[in-house]
Amino acid sequence: MKKVKKVIIPAAGLGTRFLPATKAMPKEMLPIINKPTIQYIVEEAIASGIEDIIIVTGKGKRAIEDHFDNAFELESRLLEDGKLELLKEVQRSSKVEIHYIRQKEPKGLGHAVWCARKFIGDEPFGVMLGDDIVTGQIPCLKQLMDQYEETQNSVIGVQVIPDEFTNRYGIIEPDQQDGRLYRVNNFVEKPPLGTAPSNLAIMGRYVFTPKIFKYLEMQEKGAGGEIQLTDAIQKLNQSERVYAYNFEGTRYDVGERLGYILTTLEFALQNEDLRYPLMDAMAEWLSKAGQPTIG
Ligand code: G1P
Repeated sequence: MKKVKKVIIPAAGLGTRFLPATKAMPKEMLPIINKPTIQYIVEEAIASGIEDIIIVTGKGKRAIEDHFDNAFELESRLLEDGKLELLKEVQRSSKVEIHYIRQKEPKGLGHAVWCARKFIGDEPFGVMLGDDIVTGQIPCLKQLMDQYEETQNSVIGVQVIPDEFTNRYGIIEPDQQDGRLYRVNNFVEKPPLGTAPSNLAIMGRYVFTPKIFKYLEMQEKGAGGEIQLTDAIQKLNQSERVYAYNFEGTRYDVGERLGYILTTLEFALQNEDLRYPLMDAMAEWLSKAGQPTIG
């Protein structure tokens, strides 16, 4: 039985929602407090036992490679100055092999995943999207890997969302349910409001058998004129079973501005050094917000 040892992290998107910040800096490098969002994803992969990560990049994404490279001068300086905690932070992601490949044209998520096919070969593998940070006791990807080991089939991470957001996600039409695991009838990418078959949404964590590449290879453009991963999953599900797993944990959407701000605030409230100064400042803003403004 083959184990999941590799993951693909697509990071080729243009980041238009965060312009102008993302004009010269990849959106994946935007920090939540002091850590780039992509580092949260890499740390989840490491915590799940992944050995190799391939990041699919595009134009203007070199800062990601620099970030995960050894920073010899910085590291020796921190060592000399006895800043060992900071040194540990800087070296955190060096426990895993990170590889890079370029998606030469922005043809969509399905195409980005397909670009990494030679690196994966004939093995099961994970896909992790950088817009979703998930926290919880058991890493989200690990939960899906465990389900893969049980079922020997592809497993897609889902969570329940409010009805009014179903047009923003890939949505499943569930069939039989066994605890948190679902058999699935259909996978639909961003259905128009009012037409969603459920409110179980695909949340940026996947484990696939390598057969998905066959369907990505043939996949035509779908929603938004892009080659959609969800459409290839729908086809895969017709030839071998694809499960959905309602994973445990809190998911943060850092791919849009309000989600990014709320994630920053929540992570700051969980941080011992920041919690009380932030709460004091917030109490002050709120009391001022209630007062009439002059002019
Ligand atoms: C992508 C997927 C979608 C999924 C979402 C999760 O959409 O295509 O199925 O629900 O990620 O974040 P995107 O947000 O890239 O448009």
